[in-house]
Amino acid sequence: MKGIILAGGSGTRLHPVTSVISKQLLPVYDKPMVYYPMSLLMHAGLREVLIISTPRDLPSYRELFGDGNRLGMRFDYCEQPRPEGLAQAFILGRDFLAGGPACLVLGDNILHGPSLPTMLTSCATLSDGARIFGYRVRDPERYGVVEFDADGKALSIEEKPEHPKSPFAVPGLYFYGPDVCDLAARLEPSPRGEFEITDLNRCYLEQGRLTVSVLERGYAWLDAGTHRSLIEASNFIQAIEDRQGLKVGCVEEIAWNQGWITTEGFRSEVEAAGNSTYGTYLAEALESGGNPSAAG
Ligand code: TTP
Repeated sequence: MKGIILAGGSGTRLHPVTSVISKQLLPVYDKPMVYYPMSLLMHAGLREVLIISTPRDLPSYRELFGDGNRLGMRFDYCEQPRPEGLAQAFILGRDFLAGGPACLVLGDNILHGPSLPTMLTSCATLSDGARIFGYRVRDPERYGVVEFDADGKALSIEEKPEHPKSPFAVPGLYFYGPDVCDLAARLEPSPRGEFEITDLNRCYLEQGRLTVSVLERGYAWLDAGTHRSLIEASNFIQAIEDRQGLKVGCVEEIAWNQGWITTEGFRSEVEAAGNSTYGTYLAEALESGGNPSAAG
C-alpha cells in the first residue's frame, strides 16, 4: 500500500495567516502540521508517499521533505491546480498508485490515541473495499457524517448534511483497495463543484464493501483549520508532550524506531535539527538508545 497526503486547499478560514503560506506548513506547537498526518502513514508502515499541494505551495513541501531518503522513505509530488475536492487525489495519484491499494490522509488532520500504530498497521493490510472511521463530534454538520444501525453497520454517509443523522463525523484518513482510482474516475462533481470523498465512500457502501470503524473515547481527532482550533491543537500537543516527555508526530524518531534509518542516519537528523527543543529531544533519544515504546 502507498500513502497520499492531500495538502492543498485554500485555507480561507485561516486568512490572513494563510495568505502566503500553506495551512499544513503552519506550526502545531513544535513542528509543521503536515508532520502529524505523515506520522500516521509512517505508523501504518507506508514508505512511499505522494504529497499533493497547490502550485504555489508544492515547492515548500519539496524543500521540507526532499526525496524522503533521509527518513528511509520515497516521496513523490504532484500539483493540484485548483481545490476540486478530496477524491481528486485518486485522479491525480493514478500513476503513482499504479493499480495498488492506498491510504489517503488530509494534511491538516491530527489523530492521536491508544494503540494507533497497531490499528494503522492492520488497516494497511487492506486489499479490497474501503475502510474509513467514525468519530463522535458535537458539530457533525461540518463534516461527512456516517449513520449506523443497531449492530454498528454503516447505513448512510452524507457530506455536510443540514440535519445530520448521527453525531459521527468521518475523519480525514481513508484506506482503499486497488480499484479506488477506477471508482474515483467515475465520480461527477457535486453541486459545489468538488469531487467528493463522501461520494466515493458511498460507492463502496452501496457495493457492500465499506467498513467503518468507530474511534472510541480516548482518541483525539483534531482539525486545525480555524484560528481557534489551530491554537487548541498546539495546546493539546504541548500538554501531552510535556507530560510524558515524548513527542507526537516526530517523523525522524518514527523512521528510526521503524528501522527505516540507521543510527548513523538518525544522528545526521539530530545534527540537522540543531539546538531547538525538537533537536534536543532527538539528541536525548539518540543518547538513550531510543524510545521503543513511544507511539510518536
Ligand atoms: P478543507 O478544510 O475542507 O478546505 P481548506 O483547507 O481549503 O480550508 P478552508 O475551508 O478554510 O478554505 O480541506 C481539508 C483538507 O483537504 C485540507 O488539508 C486541504 C485539503 N484539500 C486539498 O488538498 N484539495 C482540495 O481540493 C480540498 C477540497 C481540500
